[in-house]
Amino acid sequence: MPDPFTPTTQQPTSRGTHVACIMDGNGRWAKRRGLPRTAGHTAGEETLAEIVRAAAHRNIAYLTVFGFSTENWVRPPSEVRHILGLHRRLFGRIDELNANNVRVNWIGRPFDEPGARTPGPVQKAIRDAINDTKHNTGMVLTVAFDYGSRIEIARAAQRAQTKRPTKEINADTIAAELYAPELPPVDVLVRTSGETRISNFLLWQAASARVYFTDCSWPDFGATQLDEALALLTATR
Ligand code: FPP
Repeated sequence: MPDPFTPTTQQPTSRGTHVACIMDGNGRWAKRRGLPRTAGHTAGEETLAEIVRAAAHRNIAYLTVFGFSTENWVRPPSEVRHILGLHRRLFGRIDELNANNVRVNWIGRPFDEPGARTPGPVQKAIRDAINDTKHNTGMVLTVAFDYGSRIEIARAAQRAQTKRPTKEINADTIAAELYAPELPPVDVLVRTSGETRISNFLLWQAASARVYFTDCSWPDFGATQLDEALALLTATR
């Protein structure tokens, strides 16, 4: 039964599959091993690098991951610093990204807008990664950093109204003002670590997504779980 939210012109088969991941459970993974939370995040970054490779080899067209939310700034400063460093590490994996023909993209509060909090070195890492992978033609890896979906949608509605004050605001005019309007709808949304919430991630883009919840912590997530998530699409397409 087709989902009425899925535009008929953008079926996964014609535009390539879009997988989105809420990478949860790093802290608990570390705690179970008697390690500091930061060790869980470090392991999570390694997992992400593996999943990028696995997704690219499966010809997934778009992989979008929740790297750091607008709510995550309240974590202890040392943990925030560690996670920011891991983003710089990920964005610095240029040789690997190029070898896998992966193009980097980013969504989040634009650096120069009120409330935005992305520090300069992370801004630079994001800009460099986008620039150094821009000629790649394979999978688009979008990292959500300083990202919150409700802020994104509210900003999009405001911009739609400001740009066309006399025109009706509708789903198309809002979609055109999202951080990355070219991102297609999410086909499957993954959340790890036994949590069954969407947590303000891609609320607009994932309106018709299948959702794959797994008890597996993000550092333990692998190709097997990715394939299980993808199987949700072939089973019901
Ligand atoms: C959730 O685990 C994870 C995060 C808030 C940060 C995500 C960061 C990574 C996976 C590191 C690598 C990713 C990038 C993009 C560099 P949690 O700390 O909420 O775990 P818990 O719920 O077990 O405490």
